[in-house]
Amino acid sequence: MKFAVISLVLWAGIALAVDPGVLSVENLTQDLLRVESVREIKNIQRTYAQLAQHGRWKGMASLFAENGILRWGKGAGDVLSTSDASSITGRPAIENWLQQEAGDMDGINPGSLHVFMSDMPVITLADDGNTAKGRWTALRKLGNGKGATRIEGGIFENEYVSSGGKWKISLLRYYPLYAGTYEKGWKNLGLNGSLPVISYHYTLDQAGVTLLHAGRTASRSKEGTGTLNRRSTPAASLSVDELEYRVAHLNEEDEVRNLVHGMGYYVDRRMWPDVISLFTSNGTITVQNNTSPAGPAGIQSVLNRMGPEGLSHGILNEHPIFGTVVNVSPDHKTAVARGLEIGLIGDDNAQTGQWQFCVFHHSLVKDLDTGTWKIQDLRYHRLLFADYAAGWGDGGILPASSLDPPPVLPPYYQSTENRRPVQWRPFYKRYPAWEEPEEETRDRLANIHRLLLRSSAYDESENTSGSYGFYIDDIRCSDFAKLHSDRGHKLSPGIGWYYTPDAISLSCASRYYRQNSTTYNPSMSSLRSSVPFHWRLQPVILVSRDGRSATLRTRNLQTGTSRTQGSNGWMGGMYHDQLVLENGKRKLWSITIDEFYWSSRNWTAGWANVVPHVSNATTPRRWMSRRQSNDLLPDVSLRHPALLERETGFNGGPPPTVSWPGVQRMWWAYRNLVTGAMPSDSSYWGPPGCVPCRGAKPEWALTANGYQEPPSGPTIVTADWLEGSGVDIEVTVKGGPEESARGGWVQLVLDFNGEITKFGEEGPVGEDGKVVLRVRGPGAFGTTVPIQVFYFGNENLKPGKGIMRDRK
Ligand SMILES: *[C@@H]1O[C@H](CO)[C@@H](O)[C@H](O)[C@H]1NC(C)=O
Ligand SMILES: *[C@@H]1O[C@H](CO)[C@@H](O)[C@H](O)[C@H]1NC(C)=O
Ligand SMILES: *[C@@H]1O[C@H](CO)[C@@H](O)[C@H](O)[C@H]1NC(C)=O
Ligand SMILES: *[C@@H]1O[C@H](CO)[C@@H](O)[C@H](O)[C@H]1NC(C)=O
Ligand SMILES: *[C@@H]1O[C@H](CO)[C@@H](O)[C@H](O)[C@H]1NC(C)=O
Ligand SMILES: *[C@@H]1O[C@H](CO)[C@@H](O)[C@H](O)[C@H]1NC(C)=O
Ligand SMILES: *[C@@H]1O[C@H](CO)[C@@H](O)[C@H](O)[C@H]1NC(C)=O
Ligand SMILES: *[C@@H]1O[C@H](CO)[C@@H](O)[C@H](O)[C@H]1NC(C)=O
Repeated sequence: MKFAVISLVLWAGIALAVDPGVLSVENLTQDLLRVESVREIKNIQRTYAQLAQHGRWKGMASLFAENGILRWGKGAGDVLSTSDASSITGRPAIENWLQQEAGDMDGINPGSLHVFMSDMPVITLADDGNTAKGRWTALRKLGNGKGATRIEGGIFENEYVSSGGKWKISLLRYYPLYAGTYEKGWKNLGLNGSLPVISYHYTLDQAGVTLLHAGRTASRSKEGTGTLNRRSTPAASLSVDELEYRVAHLNEEDEVRNLVHGMGYYVDRRMWPDVISLFTSNGTITVQNNTSPAGPAGIQSVLNRMGPEGLSHGILNEHPIFGTVVNVSPDHKTAVARGLEIGLIGDDNAQTGQWQFCVFHHSLVKDLDTGTWKIQDLRYHRLLFADYAAGWGDGGILPASSLDPPPVLPPYYQSTENRRPVQWRPFYKRYPAWEEPEEETRDRLANIHRLLLRSSAYDESENTSGSYGFYIDDIRCSDFAKLHSDRGHKLSPGIGWYYTPDAISLSCASRYYRQNSTTYNPSMSSLRSSVPFHWRLQPVILVSRDGRSATLRTRNLQTGTSRTQGSNGWMGGMYHDQLVLENGKRKLWSITIDEFYWSSRNWTAGWANVVPHVSNATTPRRWMSRRQSNDLLPDVSLRHPALLERETGFNGGPPPTVSWPGVQRMWWAYRNLVTGAMPSDSSYWGPPGCVPCRGAKPEWALTANGYQEPPSGPTIVTADWLEGSGVDIEVTVKGGPEESARGGWVQLVLDFNGEITKFGEEGPVGEDGKVVLRVRGPGAFGTTVPIQVFYFGNENLKPGKGIMRDRK
């Protein structure tokens, strides 16, 4: 009887959120395959970019289908007609073309560079799950080591096909938009210096459509069979065990990706204590072949080489991360993350600037005591470092010997078909089964569904984020406004937040469109002479327990392009967003952008020696168009009294404005992803993760609108014998401020090599975050096996785990 009650408490929330009709093994198998497919497709594109960095043309060609096509536009004016683009069919021809195209800028010749940035994916998987389309933004930085350079930017609109259970590129289509050289900078490639609008593979109606259950109805009516086997390769239903395992695999991947991306933001700010706290106690940093001494002191010594802790006036230590591929080991105990990191380094006081191009290949391990991932080794292969003034064309400033031999290429993405279930139980699995078998299966399926939704939320959030990025680049005001929930809000930079898609659209149109127009017109010359590309990169995505809401941090790396060569700069900012699942679509709930942290005046001047371009005189009014200042005031101003501390220093916020080379405060909507601690610079804002919700508009918060607030970090579980008692254990469960652990269930277990035994009482955490449980169980005191303490989470907090080794 008691167990039935427990079950109700633990899973009541889920039962409400899930339509029991979808909870079949067949349905869950199809949905799992859809999420795995999207990830594999992204990994193909990322792998393509990583191979290009090392002249691995054959490997790149092998990512294409047998008769795959590569179509590479020659100039922006040409790309829309096929005749002027190179159109290459078949792997051997593609390999050959890639090699020719790179010439001596192949990443193999000493001093050569072939850096390939490709990110911001919007992936649309067909209803039948067998084909997909993907839009990516791209920028290449090339050099031959003998002075020649190329800079080329554009957009990919690619197609992918699944054959024999593996995804391949069926059509790679590149639309160049701007190009130039290091020395002179770049400019628009279009006719008469313009930029064409690159057509989209998706419509506004499709934007944000959830990955799960998509197309079921369609495929059923087409085939009339009612079956869900839509893939050409027969996708037999998986066992419940395998489903559970593979969903756990996706969940683990999300955690690893967040940790690697989150670590990067600490490095940017030289927050060394925060960086070090993400490592295991014997963690290391390896640069080329040199591994630091294990442990915090060794790590600190490497970090110190980047400079002292914290950023002071004029110091830039920006390290954007691109195209992270994550491989979690089959036993979920180790993981590798590989990608590209670009250092934009500068000291405005000394008027120095530097480029650093590195491939990273980090190793992570799962801390089995707490269930959190940690960094074991940060590993960097340096491709090239260059002084800003001289550029990368001549091979940079690192001695060739320090780069030799060419970086070893670690294995690339692991196809899902190589994954095999192992005897490993995710710790959130219930111990032990306490229901009748059918009951248990139904609950397991509900749990699998929820956990799958959490991973799908990760991809869907990245996807909507990308759609937003592309629409905003093309200044499609009403389209990006409609990516928002009907109750969504967005910060109009320098002014304040506008509530509802209509207001968001109008505030954008009044600012950017001419002649009072509120509708998008791509032929407007003012729009297409220049574009500030918004690279929404390096996501850290925290998903709510039920998978319906998410908090998203992305970098805003802005590269402009215009008609004038060399006049285009770079800028950096940070987005703090939230998304919700609303009527089958992943919608934007909240958008806040903190900008700019740094900027380069123009290409030639770079980011050091920059004259501040925003003065204290700047007021919100000055950033507004006339219409905005008259009848389109924001719903919450950047100068709202409740946001005084949060917005001071940002453009349009309360003065004094801090503009680069001044160093503006950086904000965090989450706690340390390993220790759960606050950011060491105490710039913490959340939850609620929606910026104006704290103080100004509490009614805009997710929780005020029927959504859960995603947890702000890990749940820390500690336990000890109650003072003076040999049989009572006091468990303490801790989240962040305003994240009560109350109601979440705690259980004590012993793990005898995979044989899990309950150990004593179990019960819900109280208001104070504590629960006292009495020990009694099989073999309770006849063994020294550590006591594991599981917390199953609640609507505020993730599950967490602690361990007691002291058996007294
Ligand atoms: C599978 O999902 C469809 C639509 O989502 C639903 O109608 C159907 O009942 C589900 N099948 C089972 C066996 O639950
Ligand atoms: C090219 O641009 C110039 C300056 O903006 C303009 O005067 C001219 O009419 C344009 N030519 C064409 C063919 O669009
Ligand atoms: C991504 O967005 C596209 C179009 O906006 C949509 O068709 C697709 O279902 C979405 N995919 C994912 C993975 O969310
Ligand atoms: C770090 O410590 C763990 C166990 O404490 C050990 O298994 C591992 O080999 C160590 N790794 C290194 C690089 O020293
Ligand atoms: C790095 O290690 C590899 C093998 O592990 C070795 O072949 C190479 O010479 C080393 N390079 C340097 C610069 O020490
Ligand atoms: C734009 O709107 C304003 C007032 O809303 C009006 O005074 C002005 O004439 C309009 N301009 C054009 C070009 O229609
Ligand atoms: C770039 O900025 C520098 C310094 O302000 C200026 O001297 C130079 O003319 C600018 N170059 C271009 C191409 O705008
Ligand atoms: C802005 O004002 C502050 C004092 O309020 C001053 O210290 C700072 O130098 C000013 N910045 C600029 C760019 O004028």
